This record gives sequence, structure tokens and C-alpha cells, in this order.
Amino acid sequence: MSEKKAQLTIDGSAPIDLPIYEGSTGPDVIDVRSLVSKGIFTYDPGFVSTAACDSEITYIDGNAGILLHRGYPIEQLAQKSDFLEVCYLLLNGELPDQVARRGFENDIRYHTMVDQQIHEFFKGFPRTAHPMAMLCGVVGALSAFYHDSLDIDNPEHRQRAAIRIIAKMPTLAAMCYKHGIGQPFMYPKNSMSLAENFVHMLFGTPCDSPNVSPTIAKAVDTLFLLHADHEQNASTSTVRLAGSTGSNPYACVASGIAALWGPAHGGANEAVLDMLYEIGDDSKIEEFILKAKDKDDPFRLMGFGHRVYKNHDPRATVIRGICNDVLAELGKEDDPLFKVALKLEKIALEDEYFIERKLFPNVDFYSGIILKAIGIPTSLFTVIFATGRTPGWMAHWHEMLSESYKIGRPRQLYRGNSKRDYPG
Ligand code: ACO
Repeated sequence: MSEKKAQLTIDGSAPIDLPIYEGSTGPDVIDVRSLVSKGIFTYDPGFVSTAACDSEITYIDGNAGILLHRGYPIEQLAQKSDFLEVCYLLLNGELPDQVARRGFENDIRYHTMVDQQIHEFFKGFPRTAHPMAMLCGVVGALSAFYHDSLDIDNPEHRQRAAIRIIAKMPTLAAMCYKHGIGQPFMYPKNSMSLAENFVHMLFGTPCDSPNVSPTIAKAVDTLFLLHADHEQNASTSTVRLAGSTGSNPYACVASGIAALWGPAHGGANEAVLDMLYEIGDDSKIEEFILKAKDKDDPFRLMGFGHRVYKNHDPRATVIRGICNDVLAELGKEDDPLFKVALKLEKIALEDEYFIERKLFPNVDFYSGIILKAIGIPTSLFTVIFATGRTPGWMAHWHEMLSESYKIGRPRQLYRGNSKRDYPG
């Protein structure tokens, strides 16, 4: 139990003792749960200073540019591991041995197909539907297929649900794309790796199969890996909140997808591409840099800066190299759009305004460029983010249900009318 405590005095009242808990790394937290019995709530819109749960999954130190999954630095995972192994790590707490790794990989392969009824489901969407709208709908619909047989209090059932959804997300993401362009859905090919399979389902047709080079497969796998978890972000907190009522996990993930959709969360890489198109060619870069620095102009360089990372975004460092490899392999370094991106990156990294404010390119800057270079349309970018984030959502849901948990129920500062009588 905690020895440290904080004391709160309200208007000269007797001090209220509040225990302080130490994390294994990172800031301490003050336990304010007893305040409700004194008739007081704490006020923290946006959860800026509030820890809403205990967790052992991911640690971020934004000032030092550190991101750890189960203690392992993201740079090491990106270099030595792969997406599926990181999924296992997030869900189970440890890296798998060879047998566990093979078993997990087989489980994922075995669950990549979706029920044929899901194909029918897509027929209800207009061809013009946003891929995130479709993804949200079909992932929520999975709960109709796996509800009665699922006991969320059984850890094995939770693991099975996690495996099912991690396996099916690339299939569903590709189906969202294929529906939009009017091409037949491609069935997963289980002889392929997860990343190769995803590219196959996106760009393959019954008449032709794409050649997936090791560079492209590595880039797609690393993009998924880098997005796998980011502790209590908005979409993960949404999954936890929905899950805290005992909801079906597929419905919880659908709520996470809805939270991710917004431009303040998952939509930033799309905004990077919109900005690059707006700049158009490198003769205009100087003008846009000036706009970004102008306090009277709301324009900001998309893909620069981060709310949490104030030194550098460790994911951006990893993905920068991969971005260069992809552009080189596809011979796109001289493509006007990517020339603008690379020149913009160089100027911003050398400019005092950006250096002083620690505005480094973030993961979205490079992921947007990579996805565009390999031919993925911008409207699908957030769907790919969601596919990568699914193991994180499931790991947090599983962790929460493994412990004693309370239904998430924030309080409020009420500022409306006091009680009054209905007229007449
Ligand atoms: N371009 C130009 N100036 C910027 C930028 C930018 N992208 N970002 C911040 N600044 C400036 C601000 O004008 C401010 O300047 P001042 O101190 O002279 O007033 C200073 O840098 C600090 O900015 P804040 O808004 O206080 O920084 P905050 O941490 O709140 O914002 C954010 C972070 C929202 C990510 C911001 O940097 C931004 O809007 N970036 C562009 C959008 C983007 O790429 N978002 C994706 C983030 S990654 C993710 O969420 C997965």
C-alpha cells in the first residue's frame, strides 16, 4: 500500500488525506476516489491530468520521445520483431517462444475469412460511402455472428475474440476499398504473410495477383506495428468505456473505430496529403512555410508537431527510413508530390521556428507519404490505422476485464438551470 499521501484542504476545513501511488515508470497519481463521499468531484475535461485506469501494456514519455510496449522500445520492436509478434506481446505481456509464435500465427491465418453474410452486408452501402463508415458498420455487425457463444468473463473466450478480430480486420479493410471501386472482394490467401495478404486483397483481382516486394511487405507490416498501441488515447479509452458496461467486444471495437475517425485522431495522415496537393510544387513551399509561421493565419504544417511527443516522435524516426526505401524502390523520388514532401521536411527541420518549438515531422507525415506511394487512396488511410490499432484496443479490453473494474461513468460540473416549475 502507498506510504505517500497528498492533503487537500477546502476553505480551511480539516485536511483530507489522499493516497499517492507510484507507477513503475512515469508520474505518480493521487487517488481522489474518496472525494465523492465528501460531496466533491474533481474537474478535468479531456482527462488532461487524470489517470482513468491501471495498465501494464504501453508507456509513453513524450518529453523524452519514448514509446515502450510491455517495456520494449518501439525502435527495437520495429527492427527485430513484426506486427503479429507485437500483437501477441500486447495481448499476453511477453514475447512468444517459437511454439507459441507458430500457434498464434496459425490461429490468425485460420480466422482471416469473414462470414459470407458480411459480403451481403456491403451491398447495402452506396459505392461512395466513406471506408471508415463501412468499417464501423461491418465490425459492429460481427457482434451478430459471435455473441451467444462468447462469455466475456472467460479469458480464453476473450483471447479468441481478439484473435478473430485481429485476423479479420485486414480482410474487412480491403473489402471497404474493393466495394468503393466496384471490384470483386478477394478472399484471403493464407499461404501469405499478413502484410502480403493485405496487399493481395487490396490490389489483386480474380484475373491478376500483385507482386508484393519484400520492401512493400515490410513497409505495410511496420506501419501496422507502429500503430499497434498508444496507451489511453481517445479510441482506446472509448473501447475501454464501452467495454466497461460488459458490451460485446466487436461492438466495442466499432466504437473505437468511430472515435478514431475524427481528424484530431486518426485523420491526420489524410490531412498531410491534402496539404501536399494544396502546395502543389516546390516553388510554393516557401510561401506555405511563411503561412505556417504567421500567427494571424490558421494554417499549420500538417504532419508536424505532436500533443504528447515534445522532443521527437520515435515512430517517425523508424518510418522515415522505410519511407525513403519505398520511394526509392518505386522510383518515386522525382514524383512532384513526393519531391514537395521531402523538400518540406528538409526546410522545416532546418528552420528556427520549427526547431525552437520542437515541431518535428510526426508518424502521420511519413505514413501518409508511404501509403500514397504504394497506391492506397487517402480515404483508406484511417482504415489502415484502425487495422494496426486493433491489437491495442483488444489488449486494453482484455486487461480491463481481467481485473476488477467499474463501469466508466464520469461526473460533471452542472451549470444549467436549478429546479424550476413548469409554467401554468
Ligand atoms: N505548424 C506550424 N506551427 C505549429 C504547428 C504546425 N504544425 N504545430 C504547432 N505549431 C506552433 C503553434 O502555433 C505554437 O506556436 P506559438 O508558441 O508561437 O504560439 C506552438 O507551435 C505550440 O503549438 P500548440 O498548438 O500549443 O501545440 P500542441 O501540442 O497543442 O499541438 C498538434 C500539437 C495539435 C499536433 C499541432 O502540432 C498540430 O496542429 N500539428 C499539425 C496536425 C498534425 O500533424 N496532427 C497529427 C498529430 S499525430 C497524431 O495525433 C497521431
